[in-house]
Amino acid sequence: MTAAVTPAPQILVLYGSETGNAQDVAESLGRAAQRRYYQVRVCSTDSYNVENLPLESTVIFVVSTTGQGDPPESFKNFWRFLLRKSLPADSLSNLRYAVFGLGDSGYVKYNIVAKRLAKRLISLGGAELLSLGLGDDQHKSGFEGTLDPWTAKLWKGLRQHFPLPTGLSDPDDDAPVTELSAPKYKVEWVPMTNSTSSGQVGATPEEEAARAGALLDVAGGVLASTSATDSYGPHNPYFASVLTNTRLTDEGHTQDVRHLEVDLGESGLSYAPGDSLAILPQIPEALVQQFLTRLGLDGDALVRLAKDTGGSTEEVRVRHLVRGGLDFASAPPRRYFFEVLSHFTTSEVEQDRLQYFGSAEGRDDVYRYCNRERRSVMEILEDFPSVRLPLEWLLTVTPRLRPRYFSISSSHAMHPKRAHVTAAIVDWQTPYKRRRSGLCTAWLASLDPSVSKARLAVWVARGSLRLPVEPRTPIILVGPGTGVAPFRSFIQERAMLCEIGAPVGPVCLFFGCRKRSGDFLYAAEWEKYVLKGPLHQEGGLFAAFSQDQPEKVYVTHRIRQEGERLWRLLSTGACVYVSGSSGKMPTDVLAAFEDVVSQHAGLAHEDAKHYLQAMMTQRRYQVETWS
Ligand code: 2AM
Repeated sequence: MTAAVTPAPQILVLYGSETGNAQDVAESLGRAAQRRYYQVRVCSTDSYNVENLPLESTVIFVVSTTGQGDPPESFKNFWRFLLRKSLPADSLSNLRYAVFGLGDSGYVKYNIVAKRLAKRLISLGGAELLSLGLGDDQHKSGFEGTLDPWTAKLWKGLRQHFPLPTGLSDPDDDAPVTELSAPKYKVEWVPMTNSTSSGQVGATPEEEAARAGALLDVAGGVLASTSATDSYGPHNPYFASVLTNTRLTDEGHTQDVRHLEVDLGESGLSYAPGDSLAILPQIPEALVQQFLTRLGLDGDALVRLAKDTGGSTEEVRVRHLVRGGLDFASAPPRRYFFEVLSHFTTSEVEQDRLQYFGSAEGRDDVYRYCNRERRSVMEILEDFPSVRLPLEWLLTVTPRLRPRYFSISSSHAMHPKRAHVTAAIVDWQTPYKRRRSGLCTAWLASLDPSVSKARLAVWVARGSLRLPVEPRTPIILVGPGTGVAPFRSFIQERAMLCEIGAPVGPVCLFFGCRKRSGDFLYAAEWEKYVLKGPLHQEGGLFAAFSQDQPEKVYVTHRIRQEGERLWRLLSTGACVYVSGSSGKMPTDVLAAFEDVVSQHAGLAHEDAKHYLQAMMTQRRYQVETWS
């Protein structure tokens, strides 16, 4: 006699991810759900047919908030659909759901995307399984600090709806995971023969690496295919020569800020003021070889990445796959990495430590070891010398190599075949005094334009700052440090108009740095435009040198000093732009503008606040910051 088999309850995990964190969380929820006997599908919001949502019964959403409160690209269409006014108020009355958001409380619109989603799901008749979970990058253990207790509640809540059949029991949340689920990629090794060749004829190793990165995304289901598109983008970068690489700050100054010019040649790439240049960092060949040796991998071996769904992709060399696909040299991996490693060690001591790091109990310690010290996969593997990681697992758990975005600091009208980038070279010390440098910027700093091989894999990404359509609109630019980069593009754009005698509104540039003689970026260029050009007359250059006198002077001081002028411009429709570090600066600048409006418009402080809020809604006050 056979017992009646009840089908396992189904759960859908939908994620909207920009940098891959939400995807990581969704995948780890998927694995945990499987261990709890659910049938689970994990899917990105852009590859899910949102019209099916009313038919789902249990959905867990994981969505991140990026930049200034923007949803991830992959979430936008899904969100647009949910916002449709024509959707009846009971559209989702079948749906039981939970939302976890990923954000950074250092930004004003903290986790706004998840908050709005949770609200909208209620208004469409959905039933909340448990209240919204908010992951915060600023938390002492990262977003996992709130994720773990939230998921524990989630499993408990779900159990009330789906009791376990007798004889089964749920795993202990804190215990190490003893069973490994399947790797995300399947690797087929291609036997080497004399006639074996791979890749495009004449392609450089960098081009091969970029192609391999795209193949990884196809196999991972992030991208439908690598078939060539006309436009340059993440899967088809343009390889641009570096024409200029000069240091803008003086040698004695602590921070190295570079001015780079790249040749867009005949690519046809164009950009608008406010756009960014995406640059794919390259890990030096020697480091790639060192890593392959540590793993016991033959870089010349050929593999095919088979998709879960069957079908296979092109052949690719292991060396290119590792070089173009994986950030093993700078990005700290997720906790799952340790869980997986614990299955591939021959040392009991290492296994104990890896299991602890991979478990919920070890959360704070692994965060300290891994994230605060910014340990890379390569360094961690050195700490666990007995680990032998198979290629499919290496590909599954190593962070994906990601492009870095730099505001373009030139105007296309002025430099039709070039893009300028103003980059601060990232270099700092961890709490344990280990020296760290940014993978991309350290490499940029090392590029020598006189060597013809200095080429960057780039494409243009639309930025969030936009100049007013009408060039006569006055603009007020606040850009301390490298925050000035997009404003150089704005100012050059208006300078081109001035040159042809077109009417151009006043431009006020508020720039801040430490010392006039040390890091006053593009000083001569601004001074030229003060004499003749967009910074002339009603506009101007207002610089604050924080360390040239005993007391700190910041752009906020200069904004308050210029209150009368600024209010005059604001009351005639000026737009304000703020760009730079995401620390305290953006909120301090907003407070300074509130003071200006309050004092010079004679408004109560609350009303001045509303005035600025209204400017933001009308996109007359735009902010772009980075950490
Ligand atoms: P500091 O480093 O001397 O404190 C570019 O980074 C410039 O912005 C530096 O001169 C820096 O000063 C200054 N800065 C730091 N915090 C700021 C804030 N909250 N508002 C405005 N400027 C700030």
